[in-house]
Amino acid sequence: MLKQLFCLLLVFITFSSSAQQVATFYSPNKTIQLSTSKIPDGSLAYQVYLKGKEVISSSTVGFLLKKPALELKKFTVTGIDSSTVATTWKPIWGEVKEISNQYNELVLHTSSNGVLIDLIFRAFDDGVGVRYHFPVQANFQHFVVDQELTQFNMSGDHTAFWIPGDYETNEYTYNKSKLSEIDATAAAAKEKDIAVTALMGKNVVQTPLMMKSANGFYLNIHEAALVNYPAMHLRLDQATQTFQSALVPDAVGNKAYLQTPFSTPWRTMVMSEKAEKILESKLILNLNEPAKFGDSTWIKPQKFMGMWWEMHIGKANWPLAGGKHGANTANVKRYIDFAALHGFDGVLVEGWNQGWEDWFGNWKEEVFDFVSPYPDYAIDSLTQYAQAKGLRLIMHHETSGSVTNYERRMDTAYQYMVSKGINTVKTGYVGKIIPRGEHHDSQWMVNHYNRVAEKAAQYKLMVDSHESVHPTGLHRTYPNWMAAEAARGSEFNNAPTLGIVPEHTTILPFTRLMGGPMDYTPGLFHMSLNQFDSTRTQKVRSTLAKQLALYITIYSPLQMAADLPENYEGHLDAFQFIKDVAVDWDDTKVLSAEPGEYVTIARKAKNKDTWFIGSITDENARNVSLSLDFLDPGTAYEAMLYRDADDADFEKNPEAYVIEKKLVSKSSNLTYRLQRGGGCAVVLRKL
Ligand code: NOJ
Ligand code: CA
Repeated sequence: MLKQLFCLLLVFITFSSSAQQVATFYSPNKTIQLSTSKIPDGSLAYQVYLKGKEVISSSTVGFLLKKPALELKKFTVTGIDSSTVATTWKPIWGEVKEISNQYNELVLHTSSNGVLIDLIFRAFDDGVGVRYHFPVQANFQHFVVDQELTQFNMSGDHTAFWIPGDYETNEYTYNKSKLSEIDATAAAAKEKDIAVTALMGKNVVQTPLMMKSANGFYLNIHEAALVNYPAMHLRLDQATQTFQSALVPDAVGNKAYLQTPFSTPWRTMVMSEKAEKILESKLILNLNEPAKFGDSTWIKPQKFMGMWWEMHIGKANWPLAGGKHGANTANVKRYIDFAALHGFDGVLVEGWNQGWEDWFGNWKEEVFDFVSPYPDYAIDSLTQYAQAKGLRLIMHHETSGSVTNYERRMDTAYQYMVSKGINTVKTGYVGKIIPRGEHHDSQWMVNHYNRVAEKAAQYKLMVDSHESVHPTGLHRTYPNWMAAEAARGSEFNNAPTLGIVPEHTTILPFTRLMGGPMDYTPGLFHMSLNQFDSTRTQKVRSTLAKQLALYITIYSPLQMAADLPENYEGHLDAFQFIKDVAVDWDDTKVLSAEPGEYVTIARKAKNKDTWFIGSITDENARNVSLSLDFLDPGTAYEAMLYRDADDADFEKNPEAYVIEKKLVSKSSNLTYRLQRGGGCAVVLRKL
């Protein structure tokens, strides 16, 4: 890594505000300016400017410790270091084949109430990262955090895309409002379909938080490298438009138990005048540590199908009792046959193991043992059958929130998977957490999710976690933790109360996806969900073409084709797109995007000349016109469009689509129309 000193502006002048500047520095191309200052009461503040516009107004830093009981709010700066880094690295899988990591760093060595703390600031050209580091020191070793006091002072009453702050869940519908109009209590009161909730208050929201200012910038606040620390939510003081870090407590109300040396997660602020640049940012990945394990050849992006949706929509069920057991040998064979015929890598099977008769709602500790299949599920012959057809089963570990039970059984469960030739596990945490009193987002659980990634890696297993804490770019460090749900996924199309509104998938890339890949489970082709249960009124509020486009707009190296084989049978021409779409990429271009409205992304398949484009819209129809100037010069391409039919509409006619071919080149403009709640998926192949 190239480390060199850069020119740091050190000035000690007094401003009219009577704040005293400590140090100011810039990002490599000077787009971002970060200033630090001392306020007369002794506190330390930082400020961030984007091309001269104030994005983060003077915001103070600090901690309240429980033990030793100390306020760390006033700081003496004892030294300043600075450095520059300009390097590139290659992700094991990802949206682009090479990532540039360029930033200037400022470290303020400080002392506060006798405790030594380093404040580390990094300025990238698309935002900043801030973290605290507690170095080894003689009189301070173990400490318990009561509150982290990091502020994010907004420079205006921005439009925000937010979900209520909650200790337990990130499965809410997004709200769009001015900061001054945020009311998380009212928003949460409308939600009836989330299994476990614990609201943090009227004015608390979750990260990644996306905002748009009236004077022309976009800002995303989140965190990177969430390790041995609780998740950060944000408490807003509506009078001053200032957010403060709100950490998730443990069972006795403490936030974190720490020991020096310790570095907190990075607090990230991604900013740009262009919404597209927010989606292209690699800042959060760059703030994570490189991959922990050398040999990564066993880690493979995958497309899979699953014995899954048919249980959500009432054709089958998870438990054996009740007479509708979905994961029976014959039915799983049917999925394997279909998935193998169409070239998939895996078949997820839920409801395969004993325990589903009594798995939810009683805060029960001994639920599943993860090694006992139901008697009608012939796991050995099915794994052999799958492997003979060139694919693998994907194992499901629903913990029902009983994490002590899972921790005790993890080694045995993973050995069992290895013995069956299964190398991917979908974990799940539906229910109240055990250890009782812990929360899905508390320090203990954060450590659990990371432990799962590490332990799974020891067994060469890939992980897809559901109901886990918001991702923070740790897929760089643990490339086998390939995806997480950790937001309102496609399963909520079947939720009776709010379901999934058309704008949801245009907000996800700007919020949840900022932290990492999402197992959204797209690909629903049958939009009326009363197919097997005539009492259901729920509908998938999306056109079929939009379901295809989601394979591009929602990034994940693990992509599911979520619908039933029989629902794909009727539309094999459209299904062809799901068969063809790549799950690993050499390049990605965000062509146009606006949170809550539309997203168009183009991606080039790994080691291939083929490009894929996905466009989606909210409940409004719109025309898309794209320059294809990213294509290679002097070559003709065939564009295969999977678009909404002219009369398609997510409410009235969601399954109407048209597939058409066009001849295009680098100089072409590609145009198509997205109908209400619609989308378009395009494959561009060299001729
Ligand atoms: C919630 C998960 O998100 C879903 O995919 C799964 O089917 C159920 N829990 C049951 O484990
Ligand atoms: Ca879920």
